Amino acid sequence: MTETRMTDEVDVNSHPPLEEEKRQRYYIAKMQQLVKEKETEIGRPLTACVTTFGCQMNARDSEKLIGILKEIGFEESTDENSDFVLYNTCTVRENANLRVYGRLGHLNSLKKQHPGMIIALCGCMMQEETVVEKIRKSYRFVDLIFGTHNIFKLAELLYQRMTEDGMVVDVWKDTDQIVEDLPVERKYPFKSGVNIMFGCNNFCTYCIVPYVRGRERSRAPEDIIKEIEGLVADGVVEVMLLGQNVNSYGKTLNPPVSFAELLERVEQIHGLERIRFMTSHPKDLSDDLIRVMAKSEKICRHLHLPLQSGSSRLLKKMNRHYDKEQYLALAKKIQEAIPDISLTTDIIVGFPGETEEDFEETMDVVRQVRYDSAFTFIYSKRTGTPAAAMEDQVPIEVTQPRFDRLLKEVQEIAKERCSRDLGRVMKVLVEGMDDHDSANVTGRLGNNTMVHFPGDASLIGKIVSVRLTEARGFYYMGRMEEE
Ligand code: 5AD
Ligand code: SF4
Repeated sequence: MTETRMTDEVDVNSHPPLEEEKRQRYYIAKMQQLVKEKETEIGRPLTACVTTFGCQMNARDSEKLIGILKEIGFEESTDENSDFVLYNTCTVRENANLRVYGRLGHLNSLKKQHPGMIIALCGCMMQEETVVEKIRKSYRFVDLIFGTHNIFKLAELLYQRMTEDGMVVDVWKDTDQIVEDLPVERKYPFKSGVNIMFGCNNFCTYCIVPYVRGRERSRAPEDIIKEIEGLVADGVVEVMLLGQNVNSYGKTLNPPVSFAELLERVEQIHGLERIRFMTSHPKDLSDDLIRVMAKSEKICRHLHLPLQSGSSRLLKKMNRHYDKEQYLALAKKIQEAIPDISLTTDIIVGFPGETEEDFEETMDVVRQVRYDSAFTFIYSKRTGTPAAAMEDQVPIEVTQPRFDRLLKEVQEIAKERCSRDLGRVMKVLVEGMDDHDSANVTGRLGNNTMVHFPGDASLIGKIVSVRLTEARGFYYMGRMEEE
């Protein structure tokens, strides 16, 4: 599923244009020539393998990277023994970094047997100077490094690497540039992420994201609407509006536009059936948004509302700008306004200085809110963030048992929550065949719960009515019903 908007013919013999989109089209054309030459030389198509670590933002960035690679003429592959291998990295927790280093060792041995292989690294981890230094020194077989702000430059950087010697490194500290209209290769034909903003201004004290994704920048509503209209024309029925903190969308636009207003405009798009969004910071969640959600026909009954901790004392140290009572009041207000809402959350265990009492406050919020699911994390020290310099770091012997207790509680509640719609007929967007049973398809309810039911591939991408006949912990089995 490639979304491309071809512009004017490109003259590859002229100088590279200065306007960014035209410039990248020029390098895509240059690379197309180079790839063709290589193919003739080796007698087979060139392959590219892109591996994505981390969040939905990275997943969407990878779709853009793959879009450019395919436009250039690479065949997409899932085999790392490819001509071009790209890791789109994450650095939100230490173990994300460790996984990348581990896999790089393996890539080095593949490259020894595959001369001409180009290895590239991009994404959040590359925005850290210490990481780039380490790769320059100890992973010299890497060919190309770029960051989060210049993924649109892939063709230009690849051209540079293929026409010059040595490692190419191009990492920008920040940018106010948003390049529209480059090719994108969607993973699913029927649903798509849509960036509405980039970066984060919140500086929660544990989090490295603001340092690696830069300052908050919102896309113009017209550009977002145009992109979604294009997606819908191409068969998309569900969009996920993406931002680190969607509730502060549009504050810096001129004139300002609120997230609630943007949602109302997206709702008007004819042919679009479902709207999701991620992530909402509790401090910025407006009554307008709740109102718009409550009356909407298309916005899914799911809100991801990261708690991080239930202790007001720790929330202050985390720089979250809300306390336990405010969070609980907000959750209650949402649940009352939208009774069928599914609330999900992120929780960190073992933030510096966390005592047993602090942890119990978190457990208390979990029991009161009753989340449909929760991502739970053990605090990971990220160099350069304020929390990394805090004195009272909590040892793993203390955090692990707390984490286990939290997970157990979260899972018990999630199981009970998940079964609440048993017996009802609900709308399911069919996403694919069931991995475990070829007679079944798999889809999702508006609240994001998975449902498996008898059906064939012709249903993929359709929204159908399904009776939920059996609750199996975190998912349902069902049976399709006539409309
Ligand atoms: N340690 C553990 N979890 C973290 N997160 C962000 N930074 C850290 C960290 N240093 C979690 C938060 C955030 C989610 C995306 O990742 O819970 O909401
Ligand atoms: Fe990190 Fe906080 Fe920004 Fe989320 S809101 S990306 S947790 S700094």
